Amino acid sequence: MRPATRVFRDLPALVEGAVQDLMARIAAVHATRGSCRIALAGGDTPRQMYQRLAQPDLASRIDWERIEVFWSDERCVPPTDPRSNYRMACDALLSHVPVPATGVHRIDGEAVPEEAARAYEQELGREPLDLVLLGMGADGHVASLFPGRPEATERTRKVVPAQGPKPPPQRISLTLRAINEARAVCFWVANADKADRVADVFDEIESGARMLPAAQVQPASGELLWLLDATAAGRL
Ligand code: 6PG
Repeated sequence: MRPATRVFRDLPALVEGAVQDLMARIAAVHATRGSCRIALAGGDTPRQMYQRLAQPDLASRIDWERIEVFWSDERCVPPTDPRSNYRMACDALLSHVPVPATGVHRIDGEAVPEEAARAYEQELGREPLDLVLLGMGADGHVASLFPGRPEATERTRKVVPAQGPKPPPQRISLTLRAINEARAVCFWVANADKADRVADVFDEIESGARMLPAAQVQPASGELLWLLDATAAGRL
């Protein structure tokens, strides 16, 4: 069955719609639980959402004291490296809002990858994430789980070292187990270069032959929502 999908006329509309959806999800979690545990995605599309959320008209409406920020993946570089997903999120959002330092759970990109992955799995703990935000690569990867890679089929661990074809190759990533245990997963996908792969992913979801990592995002009991602009949804 096709996952829940919202298509927006263009990228600005997608950014606005994605951030409004995110704020509603945060408010719902705050109304029913303590803090809201969110895993941020890397990538240029998510960055634009973070920048919008950081603007005072929206940021002022969030209780940042009750937000816990995690990452769905990280590149194995220092936090000051321009390729770091942590740095991107700080530049776009976290340095502009009063989220407590204790609520920012950075993946240690400088450590030995295996050690960093095990440490992060401990930091993630047993509680499922309330929300995992994901982009999707034109090859169908999510987080740093790339097609054909062994870590993309890991079902026991929740955080693993990973390898990507895009530099820097060494990554740390949530596994599909961790992603699919989340209470909600939202994809934010834009641009025409994703259209073919989005169609492939949706075909795989509907056929049940889930090969691409993005097609294997199927929360066990949580919600799944795809938010796309019209160009990325162009072949649906
Ligand atoms: C990363 C991200 C990656 C990203 C997708 C989509 O570390 O690069 O985790 O999974 O979300 O590649 O990125 P774009 O939105 O820039 O296409």
